[in-house]
Amino acid sequence: MELMKALLVHDYGDAGAMRVERIPKPALQADEILVRVHAASVNPVDWKVCDGVLRDKLPMAMPFIPGGDFSGIVEDVGGETAGFAAGMAVFGMTSTPGYRAGAFAEFVAVKAWHAAAKPSSLTHEEAAAVPLAALTAWQAVFDRAGLRAGQHILIHAGAGGVGGFAVQFAREAGAIVTATSSAANADYVRALGAAEIIDYRAEKFEDGRRDFDIVIDLIGGETQARSYAVLKRGGVLVNAWGAIMQDKADAAGVRGVKVAVEPDGAQLTRIAALIDAGKVNVSVAKVFGLADYGAALAESRTGHVRGKIVLRMDA
Ligand SMILES: NC(=O)c1ccc[n+]([C@@H]2O[C@H](COP(=O)([O-])OP(=O)(O)OC[C@H]3O[C@@H](n4cnc5c(N)ncnc54)[C@H](OP(=O)(O)O)[C@@H]3O)[C@@H](O)[C@H]2O)c1
Repeated sequence: MELMKALLVHDYGDAGAMRVERIPKPALQADEILVRVHAASVNPVDWKVCDGVLRDKLPMAMPFIPGGDFSGIVEDVGGETAGFAAGMAVFGMTSTPGYRAGAFAEFVAVKAWHAAAKPSSLTHEEAAAVPLAALTAWQAVFDRAGLRAGQHILIHAGAGGVGGFAVQFAREAGAIVTATSSAANADYVRALGAAEIIDYRAEKFEDGRRDFDIVIDLIGGETQARSYAVLKRGGVLVNAWGAIMQDKADAAGVRGVKVAVEPDGAQLTRIAALIDAGKVNVSVAKVFGLADYGAALAESRTGHVRGKIVLRMDA
C-alpha cells in the first residue's frame, strides 16, 4: 500500500490535537481525479473546523485532514473525468467546508468538477491561494448579489482573502467599490480597485454613503447589524459569517442572504482566465511548509492577514 504525508486532526482544539503522519494514499472513484498537491492555502474555516467552533453545523468524524483548496499535478484519473489527464496542472476546492479528506496532504482525491486547469501565469503557491476565497467572492458578488455595472458596492474586510477577490471582481464588472480596511492596508485595497477606503478603526462606515446597492459582509456581528442602514431600499446584503438579521433587513426594506461556498470548476475556469489576462491579482502574504501548520493556522487566526497564507506540501 502506497503511503503519503498528511496532517491529521485527532480531536477538536489547537495545533496540539493534530500531527503530520503517513497514511494510505486516497482511493480513486470514477468521477474523481487524484492530485499530487504542491500547495494548499489556509482559510479561516480550517482553524474554525479544527478548533470545534463549527462542530454544531459541521461535526467532523475524527481523524480528518483539513485543507479546503489546492494546486498540483494530476496523478491519476477515474473513468468519468472528461477533460482531465495525468500530468495536467490543476487547482481546485476539495469540497464544501466540512470536508473529511482535505488538501493538507501530499495527495488529494477530488470530484473532477471541483477542479480546473491551473492559471498558467501563476506558481502552484499562488494558484493554491485562489479557489476557496475566490469562489466565495464570485458566488457572493455575482450569484447571490447579482452585481451589475454601475452599482455601488461596499465590501467589508477588503484586505482579506475573500475581500481582495471581491474588490477585484466587482471593479472588473464595472461597479464602484468602497471597502473597509485598517489604515495600514488602505493603499493595498485601493490598488485592487476600491475607489474609496473606509478605515474601520477610525471612522464609522455608516457616516458615509447610505445608498449602496450591495454590501458584502465578511465580518458579521456588529458590522452586519450596522450595515443594513447603508443600503438603499431594495438593496442586498450578502453575509459569509453568522446569521442574517432578518428583523434589521425587514426594517431597512432590503434582502439579507447567506453565501455558503460551493466547489465549481467552471467558475474557476472563468477566474483563471481573468488572472491570466492580468485583470485579477493574487496576493500571498506568507508561505509555510506543511510541518509548520501550527504557525500557519495561528497566522490566519489573527484575523489580519493581507491576502492569503499558503502551505507547501513538499517542504
Ligand atoms: N460562508 C462561506 O462560504 C465562507 C467562505 C469563505 C470565508 N468565509 C468567512 O468569511 C470571513 C472572511 O474570510 P477571509 O478568508 O477573507 O478571512 P481573512 O483573509 O482572514 O480576513 C482577514 C482580513 O480581515 C480584515 N478585517 C478584520 N477585521 C475587520 C473589520 N472589523 N472590518 C474590516 N476588515 C477587517 C483584515 O484587515 P485589516 O488587517 O486591515 O484589519 C484582514 O485583511 C471569515 O469569517 C471566513 O470564515 C465564509
